[in-house]
Amino acid sequence: MTVYQATASAPVNIACIKYWGKRDTKLILPTNSSLSVTLDQDHLRSTTTSRADPSFQQDRLWLNGTEDEIKEGGRLATCIREMKALRKQLEDKDSSLPKISDYHVHISSRNNFPTAAGLASSASGFAALVASLAALYQLPTSRSDLSRIARQGSGSACRSLFGGFVAWQKGERADGSDSLAVEVAPREHWPDIHALICVVNDEKKGTSSTSGMQRTVETSPLLQHRIKHVVPERMAAISKAILARDFDTFARITMQDSNQFHAVALDTEPPIFYMNDVSRAIIALIVEYNRVAVEKGGKLKAAYTYDAGPNAVIYAPKENIKEIVELIVKYFPQAENFKDPFGLFGAAGVQGKVVE
Ligand code: ADP
Ligand code: DP6
Ligand code: CO
Repeated sequence: MTVYQATASAPVNIACIKYWGKRDTKLILPTNSSLSVTLDQDHLRSTTTSRADPSFQQDRLWLNGTEDEIKEGGRLATCIREMKALRKQLEDKDSSLPKISDYHVHISSRNNFPTAAGLASSASGFAALVASLAALYQLPTSRSDLSRIARQGSGSACRSLFGGFVAWQKGERADGSDSLAVEVAPREHWPDIHALICVVNDEKKGTSSTSGMQRTVETSPLLQHRIKHVVPERMAAISKAILARDFDTFARITMQDSNQFHAVALDTEPPIFYMNDVSRAIIALIVEYNRVAVEKGGKLKAAYTYDAGPNAVIYAPKENIKEIVELIVKYFPQAENFKDPFGLFGAAGVQGKVVE
């Protein structure tokens, strides 16, 4: 008997220029382009196994061991449908291929870090889902094409199909065909940058990214300013800084954009607060750390950024990481919660194969 099953895993990515706002909620087309770093170590990953079998009665999905409903017309259903359609195209071209696109799939996914806590679980989750189905269906599809499908699961997921420094180009077309992820630079280009993840609170956040950003689009005048007058310049400037390995500029823009994203959340009605007092205290610490460095005639040594949650991600050159960890442990004695700091970055790894 042939078992059609494949496993893939994908890491999270943490944005330096934040995606926040959709111009099309169904296709998940963003109001602005964004740029992120894909984390490389195994601390923040989703691992997903997909199986197709003629005996299955329906498509089903388990997240961290608990079954999640696959709603008709919802994001999970869309990603599964798109992947089956690609398999069907292959089968139509090559009649020797088993017709597994007709089978229902059972999918099991696990995150090795807090889910829905502002550490980008939807990004690694949908990237791993699409990667596991691509492996199951033995698709020759490019990463960019897969990113277009992952995007329809969760916008930020499109960026986790690539390693290193990744941009999600917002695109112009109404059908979303040009709204996809592209590599700005591979991880090898700038391996010196590390990410320190500070888990301030691992509980599920009060306002999901999806509903929070929709409310922002509907109510925030600041978002309109951000989209038109801020993000395009920042995208160009940070891409240039990455290519030049200019940490000072990279750090400055990353912190500015985190601040503006949280300002936009505050400008939403009713306001959304993703950071808490500990998050703000970590900002103060990094600001002071940088101030002392600059006062001594040096450059910025670290950059903080916060997604839609209270947890800090600190980007810094490797030589500064030890010092930053010591500072954090000194001022936040509960810091045993902090994940192993020495994270680099990498791509969604497809390890799946069909087992005969
Ligand atoms: P986060 O900040 O963690 O990305 P979001 O509010 O954006 O939080 O999304 C969380 C949602 O993403 C979860 O409630 C779940 O629906 C989905 N999700 C998270 N992990 C996975 C996964 N491994 N596989 C499929 N879906 C996932
Ligand atoms: C703050 O991709 O989680 O992390 O597309 O609705 O699933 P949906 O939202 P999601 O939003 C991520 C927002 C962010 C910034 C970013 O990752 O760019
Ligand atoms: Co998310």
